[in-house]
Amino acid sequence: MDLDSLRAIIASHHQDRTRLVQILRDVVAEEGYVSPPTVTRVAELLGLPRGQVEGVAGFYSFLGTEPRGRYRVLFSDDIIDELKDSRALVRRMLDSFRVELGEVSRDGLVSIELTSCTGLCDQGPALLVNGFAIPRLTPERIGAITALIRGGSPVSSWPTNLFTIHSHIHRRDLLLATPFAAGDGVRAAQARGAEGTRAEITRSGLRGRGGAGFSTGIKWSACAATPGPTRFVVCNADEGEPGTFKDRELLAHHADLVLDGMTVAAMAVGAQRGFLYLRGEYPFLVEPLLANLTARRAAGLLGPAIGVDLELHLGAGAYVCGEESALIESLEGKRGIPRKRVPYPVTHGYLQQPTLVNNVETLAAAALIAVHGGDWFRAVGTERSTGTKLLSVSGDVERPGVYELPHGVSVRRVLEEAGARDTQAVQVGGPSGTLLAANELDRRIAYEDVPSAGAIMVFDRSRDILGVVANFARFFAHESCGFCTPCRVGTTLQSQLMGRIAAGKASRKDVKDLVRLTRTVKLASHCGLGTTATNPVRDLLEKFRPAIDDRIGPLEARPAFDLDEALAPAREVTARDDEGAHFRERP
Ligand SMILES: Cc1cc2nc3c(=O)[nH]c(=O)nc-3n(C[C@H](O)[C@H](O)[C@H](O)COP(=O)(O)O)c2cc1C
Ligand code: SF4
Repeated sequence: MDLDSLRAIIASHHQDRTRLVQILRDVVAEEGYVSPPTVTRVAELLGLPRGQVEGVAGFYSFLGTEPRGRYRVLFSDDIIDELKDSRALVRRMLDSFRVELGEVSRDGLVSIELTSCTGLCDQGPALLVNGFAIPRLTPERIGAITALIRGGSPVSSWPTNLFTIHSHIHRRDLLLATPFAAGDGVRAAQARGAEGTRAEITRSGLRGRGGAGFSTGIKWSACAATPGPTRFVVCNADEGEPGTFKDRELLAHHADLVLDGMTVAAMAVGAQRGFLYLRGEYPFLVEPLLANLTARRAAGLLGPAIGVDLELHLGAGAYVCGEESALIESLEGKRGIPRKRVPYPVTHGYLQQPTLVNNVETLAAAALIAVHGGDWFRAVGTERSTGTKLLSVSGDVERPGVYELPHGVSVRRVLEEAGARDTQAVQVGGPSGTLLAANELDRRIAYEDVPSAGAIMVFDRSRDILGVVANFARFFAHESCGFCTPCRVGTTLQSQLMGRIAAGKASRKDVKDLVRLTRTVKLASHCGLGTTATNPVRDLLEKFRPAIDDRIGPLEARPAFDLDEALAPAREVTARDDEGAHFRERP
């Protein structure tokens, strides 16, 4: 990349080192990757150590320091797409360009890879080409994309119907059906004052929708009470958990709720600046969100009139950056390595200042609570899980999409709403959540029973449940940030062992090794990714034992392994770890 273009990119980011991830995203948009000379120049122009720039470029899968094809195609590898035969589509494209996965074609035209998930499980299979998402893939659409790549025109000039993202909101309740206009939450928070707003949030019983389920009122009060020259608010829109797409729908169709919620949160904790950290796979949301922020400034809902401003920050393809401290590192222009979790972000967050991190849905709920009060919200749901939950339902159902249902709803009811038949298993909360067997469908979506950050993946009896869990294990091995050994090595071994079991090539000793491994990874990992990465395997071992026995039986006709004995210590760990939430986190 020539020096003038690079200077222009860096100037457009005000020479701000904390925007390194954004700068490198722009470099990749022009250069395709971050070449070694560009690494050196960026380091010089920003006054950063070269190693830091190289480390960041190498960490995020949408950046990278190796050359790629002029068209970089990333097929989603999530299980829902896999069940829709995405692998056959990948093969089709590989064959037509005569390349293998990860290879650059000889003429430098194309490279084809897999990515963990594109956030489009309701309309997959899907892929990204040079960052643009294309859903609803069929052999015909693959043929059209292949022809367009051969034609060599820029992706931005391709037919727009290829990129259309459909909305599938099938059920609306408290959040999505209550009328709301831009500024309603801000005006209500102004009228109530910071303390009054925090009091209503506490009264509502609202708990974080991002997975940990921590009390939002306590978090806001802790942030407000921490002295500091400045405070920050972050909306966590990273939404990397396969099977989750409800934040995408909120931001696409209810952005005013979310942006009002962020402003309300900032006013309530005394923050002047807020960041919306948007999943890198959702570039189609960037323009409408930026337009909304501009309109808000013009209307006096942001900016000097209100004492709060908000900005957009795009992720770059790293699931771990959904973890709040990794997200903050990324916002600061670093690799997304999770921090040690004392101190917590509410006291030492962005630039070591008090920082509130909340999920998109939490903030949307907060905007409505500011208007209607805490009692209005807590009248719905259960005592410990107030309000409603947005559920992203996908897999073997007639109507995949988003369903807003009161907390406490049974899994069976969710499946009825979505039109599921002959269900074998349901993965609640994404791969890091809970795998339910068919005899558990009366369990309830609530923090006191089965908590869910939002994903409900449904598998009918025709599906190979071992293959499903092998896909989840592959996901964690791919997304481990590599910082700590138990997770880096453990998730890889877990994936290898699960792959062997699913392929019918494992012995009983492999299964025992897997049980021991899951214990170690859960106990010794540094962050929530590692401590939850073994959940699906653990649930499979506990609940789908006949499926495992059948698969390894032909190899060794010995009595089934003593699962109870093998799992006893792991169960103790699990019970402590999963109490009330599947991410063990505190502000
Ligand atoms: C590996 C990992 C990924 C996560 N991804 C997300 C995410 O995509 N969105 C989110 O809101 N929270 C995610 N979380 C939870 C956040 O760390 C944090 O608890 C949450 O953003 C706090 O907001 P809340 O209190 O509103 O839930 C993740 C946690 C872990 C360990
Ligand atoms: S547990 Fe995994 S994701 Fe978390 S810090 Fe360790 S290696 Fe990284």
